[in-house]
Amino acid sequence: MDIKKYLHEKRDLVDTFLKEYYRNPHTPPVLQEAMGYSLFAGGKRVRPVLALAAYETCGGDPADIVPYASTLELIHTYSLIHDDLPSMDNDDLRRGKPTNHKVFGEAIAILAGDALLTDAFAILSDPSLSSRITPLRLLLALREVALASGLDGMVAGQVQDILSEKKEPDRETLHFIHTRKTGALLRASVRMGPILFGSDQEILDALSMYGEHVGLAFQVIDDILDIEGVTEELGKMVGGDEKIKKMTYPRLYGLHKSKEIAENLITNAHAALSLFSSEADTLRKIADYVLTRRS
Ligand code: IPE
Ligand code: IPE
Ligand code: MG
Ligand code: MG
Ligand code: MG
Repeated sequence: MDIKKYLHEKRDLVDTFLKEYYRNPHTPPVLQEAMGYSLFAGGKRVRPVLALAAYETCGGDPADIVPYASTLELIHTYSLIHDDLPSMDNDDLRRGKPTNHKVFGEAIAILAGDALLTDAFAILSDPSLSSRITPLRLLLALREVALASGLDGMVAGQVQDILSEKKEPDRETLHFIHTRKTGALLRASVRMGPILFGSDQEILDALSMYGEHVGLAFQVIDDILDIEGVTEELGKMVGGDEKIKKMTYPRLYGLHKSKEIAENLITNAHAALSLFSSEADTLRKIADYVLTRRS
């Protein structure tokens, strides 16, 4: 199975659900426009795809959880809109287009992010969106996503990221930032699969370990691409980390060592899947893709 094709197919499922969900005539048109602008600008959909692939690995049909997997993209897109604001990373280009605040202004950009975040939990608390998922499992998945996004997860990482600009990097702080600002939501995305399927603890633990390694590797590669990547491929400006002296893996370890670290993380992600046979092949391919991606 070709992983690019898999990503494409699953991305279409997610986009179809989200397009339908956001056909809402009761909200101010500018809000709907601002949300749609960033949401449908062409993100890779790695987080929902991880949830769908993990659910499939556990034995489920991915189609059963598309609405819930899509919420990961809502939270991720909110985080990108806010991350690009002048008060944060101050970026002008995202997903190949001018950033949300450049087009809609800061107030609407902030509010579009707020709405995306909040809607994620509206969807995650709606058991009527899938006949296969019990309300209890849905509640557990909702809590998983909330914990990964809040004060012990993504927001904590983003705060430490901002506080650490222009500071001398150290291993612990760097690990704290990357595991939280990016790793936490990716790990939760993987865990959503076994949580919604009701898998046993052994499977949940194995997939958590996989998600943790892939999640951290994803941000290490993001740091590397900020130096070695190409703006046209990435859809965002390169060199921003150096400009505002972000605490990154290449800054502490150099490029060569950072690549080695990412490779080791992906090796560990594979090792975490050792109790599975071919049913985890998609997750294995996603791990390899995370390491070799150019965008
Ligand atoms: C970029 O995420 C920001 C990080 C958390 C590293 P992605 O690389 O998944 O961005 P999109 O969704 O494809 O635009
Ligand atoms: C972003 O990290 C993590 C988020 C939670 C949005 P970065 O600031 O490195 O992401 P990019 O490089 O702007 O996509
Ligand atoms: Mg940032
Ligand atoms: Mg940024
Ligand atoms: Mg980056």
